[in-house]
Amino acid sequence: MTKRPILIHPDPRLKKVCAPVPDLSDELRTLADDMLETMYDAPGIGLAAPQVGVISRLIVLDCQKEEGATPRPMAMFNPEVVAASEELGSYEEGCLSIPDQYAEVTRPSEVSVRWIDRDGHEHQQDFGGLWATCVQHEIDHLNGKLFIDYLKPLRRQMITRKMQKLKRERARA
Ligand code: NI
Repeated sequence: MTKRPILIHPDPRLKKVCAPVPDLSDELRTLADDMLETMYDAPGIGLAAPQVGVISRLIVLDCQKEEGATPRPMAMFNPEVVAASEELGSYEEGCLSIPDQYAEVTRPSEVSVRWIDRDGHEHQQDFGGLWATCVQHEIDHLNGKLFIDYLKPLRRQMITRKMQKLKRERARA
């Protein structure tokens, strides 16, 4: 498995609507493995393909973050929210493409998600708690949407400026 560089906002590739994955291939399975490696290493609990510059509908996640918990790596191809609860919940969200910035985002507290796994099998499962937040956040990435898009424009601009500065500093280093 190979770690891949994570794109930092603002980047036009993070604003793209990603294309559905038509057929699974070894290349896509390798991409999923690389994304999991990249996510665990960061460390993070979710990562979407556009964050490593691949404009395809693939996300990975593992929200078992208590120490000692058995890892539960998931790779979802063409994930889709098929139902969402009316009940809403708020989480302090962050994003590996927007390092060290966190903000409260309100979303449905439970969602039912359908996806294709790495072996081509279709699944549908209900998610709650942190998993629900994370899977919605990652699916948003596939539609070119970031968690800061839920914030007020002023706050969003402030974060974007910080990220521009961070990118300039990293380019110089
Ligand atoms: Ni993110």
